[in-house]
Amino acid sequence: MTRNIALFVSGTGSNARKIIEYFQDKEAVNCPLLISNKASAPALAMAEDYGLETMVLERPDFYESEDLLTVLEKYDIHLIVLAGFLWLIPPYLVAAYPRAIINIHPALLPKFGGKGMYGMHVHRAVKAAHEEESGITIHYVNERYDEGDIIFQARCQLEESDGPELIAQRVQALEHRHFAPVIERLLSGDRSFAG
Ligand code: GRF
Repeated sequence: MTRNIALFVSGTGSNARKIIEYFQDKEAVNCPLLISNKASAPALAMAEDYGLETMVLERPDFYESEDLLTVLEKYDIHLIVLAGFLWLIPPYLVAAYPRAIINIHPALLPKFGGKGMYGMHVHRAVKAAHEEESGITIHYVNERYDEGDIIFQARCQLEESDGPELIAQRVQALEHRHFAPVIERLLSGDRSFAG
């Protein structure tokens, strides 16, 4: 049976692109829909180039109505993938997709997570803390930032001389390598690493 995923983004969408490309020729997983909370997100044009349906979310529609559920039902979405999506997920959506919303965070949670910890803020904090390693965390999403159960982590060693930009590059390479295969394993019902 084909499983459908919806990609939620706020920006560039380099992870979304990797995921779309990874599943392009696979029957088990389909990516019909990309949703952005920003009309200016470059990810929208990228997704349209790949033939996805796209949608821009307005804040009141997201937080003050549940209309989004109708859209997700229309596309028969099994898994919501947050790939650089910066808004907190409202309770009605968490309740409608129990353990079926996942996020990728560019650090080793529970360290360097929470509100305001996104993008270069994370990598600067990692640098300031003189961490010897960083990495990625893929986790289930609940109503609080970066607190859902962890599904998968991958690590990279950091050199003393690495600045935040280089840390960001090392972490992004891990994101691009691991996110899509982890989604594939999750959707195949492989619970060996997913709790
Ligand atoms: C990634 O670093 C991801 O971990 C975080 O947001 C960033 C999105 O980057 N949640 P991109 O838009 O996929 O390039």
